[in-house]
Amino acid sequence: ASSSAAAGDADAPSQPNHRIKISIVGAGNVGMAIAQTILTQDLADEIALVDAKPEKLRGEMLDLQHAAAFLPRVRIVSGTYYAVTAGSDLAIVTAGARQLPGETRLDLLHRNVALFRTVVPPLAQHSPDALLLVVSNPVDVLTYVAWKLSGFPPNRVLGSGTNLDSSRFRSLLADHLEVNAQDVQAYMVGEHGDSSVALWSSISIGGVPMLSSLRESDVEFEQAVLERIRKAVVGSAYEVIRLKGYTSWAIGYSVASLARSLLRNQHRIHPISLLASGFHGIPDDREVFLSLPAVLGRSGVIRIPSVQLTEEEGKRLRKSAQTLWEIQQQLGL
Ligand code: NAD
Ligand code: LAC
Repeated sequence: ASSSAAAGDADAPSQPNHRIKISIVGAGNVGMAIAQTILTQDLADEIALVDAKPEKLRGEMLDLQHAAAFLPRVRIVSGTYYAVTAGSDLAIVTAGARQLPGETRLDLLHRNVALFRTVVPPLAQHSPDALLLVVSNPVDVLTYVAWKLSGFPPNRVLGSGTNLDSSRFRSLLADHLEVNAQDVQAYMVGEHGDSSVALWSSISIGGVPMLSSLRESDVEFEQAVLERIRKAVVGSAYEVIRLKGYTSWAIGYSVASLARSLLRNQHRIHPISLLASGFHGIPDDREVFLSLPAVLGRSGVIRIPSVQLTEEEGKRLRKSAQTLWEIQQQLGL
């Protein structure tokens, strides 16, 4: 299916001297990795940090401010209250519980839904025109929750989704093929997590479709390798959490890449969590968020381009949608 999910492609705010403000709620491992990547990539004129722990928050703010001599001029503010986020162009939510070793992302659901009820309404109230980008887990269900609680149109509410899984996928494929990950085009879609779906059919290396360019005798071998890589992608967050306790650097870069495409109106395609009703056989009346490749710009999700899914890929995507939808039914939103 191919259609537009977005309400137009408004350009950047009309004032020529508009200062870009990004708010980050949750100054933990993930929030601070995002803040640091956004700072070094010069994506904002002002960064506002919000956290429930005032001392840690002030410590993080001061530590970043002390890097001023090495960075572009950016105003960095913080507070435990939402007035500090007022007028944000982009509000990123990373607050909440994270997985303990062995826990799944979905195990965090009830703790983080309760937290979102206190975070999203004041955030939306202080920045009614912002783009809302959810990172806390389980990210797909929480993006749906943020959409419901904010009252924003769906094109302005997105989740970091499988942008990260796709980067992991591309980096493992790149290792296998001994090429640069930036020359590997490949998507993981669906749930960010255990039921994510690898799109074999759309992998291309330097513009050449991978599977269709293989000799027939090599197809089976490569498909076995690809399946191993897919499993490694799904297991990779568990491995990092077991080893260092949390994941942070890759999600920091993933979210900074989304911030750049959104705020600089880049029209780049990223697989992100969006309202997927009506796509690939997901019923029109099923309000479910999961990742599909989307064109991103200043108004958020600009367009959902058509991607070819094999029958098996489509089936897996609908199963992912069904799982997420059943979970949403328990929330009473
Ligand atoms: P963390 O414990 O280091 O940080 C969470 C922060 O949230 C803490 O500083 C805490 O004080 C703050 N917080 C708690 N309640 C709050 C509230 N009501 N208001 C404001 N702040 C509040 O955890 P982390 O490692 O930074 O992970 C954060 C979240 O990001 C987790 O849910 C984790 O699963 C998720 N995550 C998602 C992805 C992804 O790809 N979507 C990747 C990594 C982590
Ligand atoms: C990730 C988190 C844990 O790094 O969702 O995939």
